[in-house]
Amino acid sequence: MKQLTSKELRDFYLDFFKEHNHKVIPSASIVPENDPTVLFTTAGMHPLVPYLLGEHHPEGKRLCDCQKCIRTSDIDEVGDASHLTFFEMLGNWSLGDYFKSEAIAMSYEFLTSPKYLNIPKEKLYFTCFKGDETAPKDEESYNIWKSLGVSEDHLFYLPKENNFWILGSGVGPCGPDTEMFYDTGKPKCSENCSPACDCGKYLEIWNDVFMEYYRDEDGNLTKLSQQNVDTGMGLERTITVLNGLESVYDSDVFANLKLKIEELSGMHYEDNKKSFRIIMDHIRTSTFILGDDHGIVPSNVGAGYVLRRLIRRTIRHLRNLGLMEDALIKLACVVINDYQDVYKELAKNKEFICSELEKEGIKFGKTIKDGERLFYKVIKHMDSDTISGMDAFKLFDTFGFPLEMTQELASENGLKVDIDGFNKAFKDHQEKSKTIDAGSFKGGLADSSYESTKYHTLAHIMLASLQKMYGADIIQKGCNITSERIRFDFNLDHKMTDEEKTELTNLVNEKINESIPVVMEEMP
Ligand code: ALA
Repeated sequence: MKQLTSKELRDFYLDFFKEHNHKVIPSASIVPENDPTVLFTTAGMHPLVPYLLGEHHPEGKRLCDCQKCIRTSDIDEVGDASHLTFFEMLGNWSLGDYFKSEAIAMSYEFLTSPKYLNIPKEKLYFTCFKGDETAPKDEESYNIWKSLGVSEDHLFYLPKENNFWILGSGVGPCGPDTEMFYDTGKPKCSENCSPACDCGKYLEIWNDVFMEYYRDEDGNLTKLSQQNVDTGMGLERTITVLNGLESVYDSDVFANLKLKIEELSGMHYEDNKKSFRIIMDHIRTSTFILGDDHGIVPSNVGAGYVLRRLIRRTIRHLRNLGLMEDALIKLACVVINDYQDVYKELAKNKEFICSELEKEGIKFGKTIKDGERLFYKVIKHMDSDTISGMDAFKLFDTFGFPLEMTQELASENGLKVDIDGFNKAFKDHQEKSKTIDAGSFKGGLADSSYESTKYHTLAHIMLASLQKMYGADIIQKGCNITSERIRFDFNLDHKMTDEEKTELTNLVNEKINESIPVVMEEMP
C-alpha cells in the first residue's frame, strides 16, 4: 500500500464524498455556538446537532467536512505516542437521507477501492452493536458488511461501551455505531484478542454512527423524527495507522514543526521525545485556538484558561530544550504555514496569534525569572536537601511560581520539596487572610467602588469554582453586592455540606492567592 500524506487523505475523503453527492462544508469554529456544556468542539457532528435533530441545513441532506476538534480531558497524557489535544476529524453526514446500507457501502468502497485508500480487505475488521435493554442488536449493519463480502471472522458484536455513540455530555442525538479497524499485523495478545482490546493489534480508523435516538438528561432514549448518519475519521490517527508508524508525532503532520524545533534548539527529537511532543501538540492547539475567529485570549477562566495552560506548558518544555519564549511565534508561524490553505482564518488572524503569544510569553517569562531568582537565593542558604514548604509557598504566593516548577527546579538541583509543608503554609495563609478581612470590614474600608469591583470579580471566581465542583450545569441565579459583603445565588440540588463549603472556600482562595491581574477590555 502506498504511503499517504495527511493532505492526500483529506483531499481523497472530501473528493470521494463529493462524487457521492455530498456538499463539502467548511469546518465550523473550534468553539461551539450555543452549547454551554463544553468549551470546545469535540467532534465533527458537534456543530451539526440542530440538523441531526431535524432542522433544515442550507446545504442539503448530504454533507461532509474536515472539522477542527479539541479534546483536553487527556491533556496530561500528551507526550506519549498517541495523545493529541487538537485533531482534525473527517466526516460525512446523512441528515435523514441515506441510512445503514448506503453509509456502510460507501465506507467500504472508500477504504478498499484502488482509486482511494486501497487497503487490502484482509487487513480490515468491523464491529457492530451487540444490543441491550435500551436498544436492539444491530444485525442490519452486521449483515450489510457480510453482504459486501466481509467474512464472519472479521466481524464482531460489542456492547454499548464500544459501539454506541453520544457526545460527552451524554445528552443529544445518538445511536449504535459500526467501527472499522486496521490490523497492524502484530500477533494476537491472546486467544480472545479482538478489536475490543487495546493491545494495539487492531486500531480503529473510522466510525459510522446511526443516529436515530435522542438521549435526555435522565438517560431515556426516544426515536428522532429522522434517521441520520454521522461518521468520524481522525485524520492524524488514520495517517499514522495506515502508514504503519509508531506514533502520531512521526506522521507528516508534525514534520515541519519537528524540523523547526531541531533547528532552533540544536537538539534531536529522538533524544527529547517528551518535550518535543508536548511542544508540537500544544503550540499547534494554541495556534488554532488563537487563530479561530472567536478570538479567545489567554485568561483564567474557561477556554482562555485552557489556552493559557497550553502556552505556559509549551514554554516550560521549550526551556527544557534551551529555548526561550520567542520560539513560540516562530513555531506558530510553521503551524500557520502548514495549514493556511485548508483553514484560511489562520493567515487572516496571524498578527493576533503572534501578538497574544508574545504577551503571554512575556508574562510567564517574568514569572519564571522572578521565581528562579528567589529559588536560587533560597537554596544558597539551605543546609538540608529539602526546600521548606514555607519557601515553596513564598515562591507561589509572591511570584505565582507554580509548585510543579519549584519541584522541577529542585530535582534539577538534586533537591526535594516539602509538599506537606507547602500545603500547610497555604492553609495557614488562608486563615490569616480571613482574619484580616474581617478586621477591615469593621474598620469600614472606604472606597466602595474598589470593594464592589473586588466582589464582582469574586462572583466570577465563585461561579467558576462551583462549576468545577458540581459541573457546568451550575448557573448564577442572582448576585447582590454591597461594600461589605457579596450574596451569590445559584442552583444546586442539595444543601451544601460543611465539607463542600470548605472546598469552595479553598478553591476561591486559591484563585485569589494567585493575584492574577484583572483587566478591563471593551468587547464587540
Ligand atoms: N461522532 C462520532 C465520533 O466522534 C463519529 O466518533
